[in-house]
Amino acid sequence: MGMLTILPQDWQCEIQDGDSLLEAALLAGFRLPNSCRNGTCRTCLCRLQAGQVHYRIEWPGLSAEEKTDGWILPCVAEADGNVVISVPAAVMVWPES
Ligand code: FES
Repeated sequence: MGMLTILPQDWQCEIQDGDSLLEAALLAGFRLPNSCRNGTCRTCLCRLQAGQVHYRIEWPGLSAEEKTDGWILPCVAEADGNVVISVPAAVMVWPES
């Protein structure tokens, strides 16, 4: 289990073991851009600002250069400890005011 921080909003939530970063965010009420949720469409592409991830699929739709530059696909990325990602388009969907 780790902690997910979403920048620039500085929102935080826990990541349960086995959940992707996207799943952890959605469970906490933070909607990140997403579509296929299987690592192919790249709608969820975002930057990893801190921490480490591994992928639940063998070939996530990222080039080696993108990986080196810190781009990740949170729909298929699982955290190795605490991670910080940058998703300016993230929206808080609940709790509703
Ligand atoms: S939602 Fe399609 S690659 Fe992540």
